[in-house]
Amino acid sequence: MTSPAPRLVARYRPAQRLIHWLGVGSFLLLLLSGLALLFPPLAFLAAGGLSRLIHRLAVAPFVLLPILYALLLPRQALELVTESFTYTRDDLEWFKHMPAYVLGRTKGLPPQGRLNAGQKIHHASTFLMFVSVAASGFVLWFGVGRLGPTGHALAAMVHDLSMLGLSVLMIGHVYFTFLYDALSGMVTGFVTEQYARMEHLRWFESLTPAEAAAPASAAETEPAKEP
Ligand code: HEM
Repeated sequence: MTSPAPRLVARYRPAQRLIHWLGVGSFLLLLLSGLALLFPPLAFLAAGGLSRLIHRLAVAPFVLLPILYALLLPRQALELVTESFTYTRDDLEWFKHMPAYVLGRTKGLPPQGRLNAGQKIHHASTFLMFVSVAASGFVLWFGVGRLGPTGHALAAMVHDLSMLGLSVLMIGHVYFTFLYDALSGMVTGFVTEQYARMEHLRWFESLTPAEAAAPASAAETEPAKEP
């Protein structure tokens, strides 16, 4: 006898997933083309100015996607920013379990909302470094010939350190995605009930049946459907 399929819970809407993956694509393009500009051993990739062109072209989606997110899904975008910067007593308790969580152990974790405390730190740091990498990038781009050697070195340092920070954050983010089998949320939009209960119990318990069946808040505009 086969066991029944796990019950699925809606987590991300199609527009959220599209924006996330376009963001990942443009970030990786910026990272690889940036490395080719930075490191002499990779200079052959920058021959003919191709890396510089790719780097500048990838800026557009990277910078415009958060604006698109805010325009298409203002409630979710605001939720993402406010939740990422709001920490509760449960979050502080969650951080005490962080060493075990890193090793894949979830016993005793305090119940979490839509984002767990680790995701809040990731998203908040991503937000801050996004601002610093974009601002320093525009200073480098449009300040050519006006910055002077010290100004240029300072802007380049902020730009490179922000990109390094974003890369470290991405490695941790991908590690936890696979450790806790969370990828489906950003691919199909749905996660298993077991995952939702284990990682986001307070969020799971707050969902109405319609919200659990259709992506978050979509119940306002779309008919609820069974996955
Ligand atoms: C291959 C690389 C990546 C994978 C596999 C991945 C995977 C995921 C997954 C599965 C989620 C949903 C987690 C949940 O259930 O809450 C998520 C959310 C998120 N990821 Fe990634 N991610 C990647 C790269 C990135 C990068 C490079 C950034 C930022 C520079 C990023 C920023 C975010 C943000 C801000 C969210 C929250 C989105 C929202 O709530 O709308 N991710 N990611």
